[in-house]
Amino acid sequence: MRAVYPGSFDPATNGHLDIIERSAKLVDHLVVAVLNNINKTSLLTVEERVELLKKITSHLSNVEIKSFSGLLVDFMVKEKSTIIIRGFRAMLDYEYEMQMAQVNRQLYEEVETILLVTKYEYSYLSSSMVKEVAKFGGDVSQFLPKEVSDFLINKFKKSEEKQ
Ligand code: PNS
Repeated sequence: MRAVYPGSFDPATNGHLDIIERSAKLVDHLVVAVLNNINKTSLLTVEERVELLKKITSHLSNVEIKSFSGLLVDFMVKEKSTIIIRGFRAMLDYEYEMQMAQVNRQLYEEVETILLVTKYEYSYLSSSMVKEVAKFGGDVSQFLPKEVSDFLINKFKKSEEKQ
């Protein structure tokens, strides 16, 4: 069983890592697919996001990190997978996840979306919230894997030095 866990991962949080670790136990092979979205400005480049994900998942032998652009269903075909995994935090995710799952199945009938319920402690954790806290100098280490938190702190320090 091959599954794909797609997302922006800008940056990957403890919540994302929890979903990756739990999915890796459910499937034979998991591809974490980082969206390279040319229309959306991200804090981290796609290369940085892929690199960080590789570091934080190095203990998981059946997890692979890749980037994709364009439609997720086209990537699914290329990866020979029909299973999409997404984390489901709280009701605020409901409309968005339902819409994506329905659109993806409309585009590719065989595709199944599995929503994994996030651990309670990560229910309200998001990359956007982490970026906001980090931007204003707040402590984000509790929300992020160590490698990601170090990277982010460094990135904001460098941009402050430039100003
Ligand atoms: O982490 P995110 O930003 O919630 O992830 C969203 C993602 C990358 C899964 C979604 O935007 C996506 O699949 N984009 C690729 C374009 C696509 O296939 N769109 C149609 C389905 S919504």
